[in-house]
Amino acid sequence: EKNGYDHFMLKEIFEQPQTIFDSLRGRLDLKHEQITLSGLDKISDKLQQANRIIIVACGTSWHAGLLAEYVIEELCRINVEVEYASEFRYRNPIITDKDVIIAISQSGETADTLVAMETAKKQGATIFGLVNVVGSSIARISDAGAYTHAGPEIGVASTKAFTAQLAVLYLMALKLAEIKQTISSETYQVLFDDLAKVPKYVQWVLDTQIDSIKRIANKYMDADDFLYLGRGYNFPIALEGALKLKEISYIHAEGYPAAEMKHGPIALVDEYLPVVFVATKDSYHEKIISNMQEIKARKGQVIAVVTEGDEVVTSLTEDTIAVPRVHEIIAPILSVIPLQLLSYYIGVGRGLDVDKPRNLAKSVTVE
Ligand code: F6R
Repeated sequence: EKNGYDHFMLKEIFEQPQTIFDSLRGRLDLKHEQITLSGLDKISDKLQQANRIIIVACGTSWHAGLLAEYVIEELCRINVEVEYASEFRYRNPIITDKDVIIAISQSGETADTLVAMETAKKQGATIFGLVNVVGSSIARISDAGAYTHAGPEIGVASTKAFTAQLAVLYLMALKLAEIKQTISSETYQVLFDDLAKVPKYVQWVLDTQIDSIKRIANKYMDADDFLYLGRGYNFPIALEGALKLKEISYIHAEGYPAAEMKHGPIALVDEYLPVVFVATKDSYHEKIISNMQEIKARKGQVIAVVTEGDEVVTSLTEDTIAVPRVHEIIAPILSVIPLQLLSYYIGVGRGLDVDKPRNLAKSVTVE
């Protein structure tokens, strides 16, 4: 049931304050400032001694994995590799019993992810599954795991499952950092508090930014190409924004690390190219502002997701969408919301079936 929404995709985007809350509930104990994740406890020794964590996934779930690489390496000081499941399974990867695999999947049935896990398991690795569908194949073959509590995702393009994955990955990183004592109590506190407030902040975006997003969608919906740029924690969100646009609007879009622009993609920039910057305030903010100026100098159109109150970026372009100010590690779970909505309104504007884009299946059970 669409519950009064025009499409499942829109309904699922709007459910995110609740689905993120559900994924944190019972795990983020506000009273004792503690994180409980029984699945993680089960492999806690393995994780503490792990040589490395290998994340395997496909598509949007792979983007969640890429962000987790940045976050786990920073907070837990464990080497993390992120692998496309389809590549990993076929290239005779080097795996030992000191490796921990985290498989991320909404459906729990993605064939490549499943086989990648089996391959690693045969070679002695410990397997952790982060899955949305209860009792799915990936959940069943994992040694331990955690469910995202996003509820059924009907829209073919993944939205609420992605933010639920990020919520649980943040919990895992924080918990592991606490156990390994690789995080200061101040940073722990800030991240814990920000994470607890994410549902409220997502609601703020949904309550206040829709008009700007619709206006921007209208302005650019006839473009043939889009570029999405971000640095650091926001780079995986640039990739996810581009994927969402391709799926929903059939507009060609590419995501890049902002600094890579100079190494090729800048040749594409002309007055017809909209460039979406994921530009919330973080340690690289000045650098991303200079990337914006480079685009503007070549007459490209700049669209930016910014931290609320960012006057510098708002003076560079009228096309901004704001998200609340949070720690830079938590910001990506907010920055992705406007990009989901931008794709949605562009797809609807172009008269497309956003819930069932052509050629796509909700769960890819064949390779
Ligand atoms: C993108 C999308 C796909 C899936 C991918 C993995 O919107 O839906 O890219 O993310 O097929 O699916 P799961 O997470 O079910 O393994």
